[in-house]
Amino acid sequence: MNWTANLETDDAQIQCGLIESQGLPSHVAIIMDGNGRWAKSKNIPRLLGHREGIESVRDIVKACSQLGVNFLTLYAFSIENWKRPKNEIKGLMKLLEIFLQDEISELDENNVRLAVIGRTSSLPQSVRSILQNSIERTKNNTGLTLTLALSYGSRWDIVRASQLIAMDVRAGNLSPEDISEETFSNYLQTKDMPDPDLLIRTSGEFRVSNFLLWEIAYGEIYISKKLWPKFRRNDLYEALSNYIGRERRFGMTSDQLTSNPKTDTLKTGKETEGNNGYLKKIISAFGKY
Ligand code: FPP
Repeated sequence: MNWTANLETDDAQIQCGLIESQGLPSHVAIIMDGNGRWAKSKNIPRLLGHREGIESVRDIVKACSQLGVNFLTLYAFSIENWKRPKNEIKGLMKLLEIFLQDEISELDENNVRLAVIGRTSSLPQSVRSILQNSIERTKNNTGLTLTLALSYGSRWDIVRASQLIAMDVRAGNLSPEDISEETFSNYLQTKDMPDPDLLIRTSGEFRVSNFLLWEIAYGEIYISKKLWPKFRRNDLYEALSNYIGRERRFGMTSDQLTSNPKTDTLKTGKETEGNNGYLKKIISAFGKY
């Protein structure tokens, strides 16, 4: 199914407003939290919460792709999640396999490139193999890059990068004086993506839970009260319009941003007259929900 050909009128109107603001983030990262609580509130097994969470994944991936977001990174399984009950882990791995089996054709058809970060050697062979095939199949796609963080922990990645750097220094390929922030970033698993502009966390928790710690240094954080299985495209639009309305200063002052044309590329939609019009349009479209 071609995603761009299937937009409801209201949806298209909101998406147009967001796109025309020219302030959309290039990289959105999401901590998908609250599947368990959603299931508990319905008195059903936790795994059914994760299954419903996949419906949100489908909707958010599709909406990001339609909006032209370049990178979407989803925290699907943390290194700490291995401590969960065996049955839940087994169920989550099965769901992941089913998701990839069911969705890969549609993702490919819609130009989505799949990627993964994390200690994937810990994943079951069946998941590793389907992941490998899916990544290979979509590697030349040029649309949204959908990165799944699986068995991922930011501290793990930072330690791993430090080890690789130390090995390169020992081998004489790198001198300690040449280690800059950029060099360090190039040893992280996230080296091929820009830092996230926007980090969304659902379920109302104010934590970053060992997710992209280095990469979110200047990321904007948005907390949604919605539990992940209830978080759908309209909630994403709300997060995006909130992001568009923020001023990103990257350590500078507000005056510096408005007076120095060289910093224009760092700015979001807030500062320009035109974007205020689009923001109004987006906000009035929200009135319908
Ligand atoms: C956190 O909710 C969520 C997870 C640990 C797993 C997220 C997985 C999915 C949404 C499904 C699989 C993903 C993909 C990309 C196919 P929680 O269980 O910690 O919820 P709680 O805090 O309410 O208990």
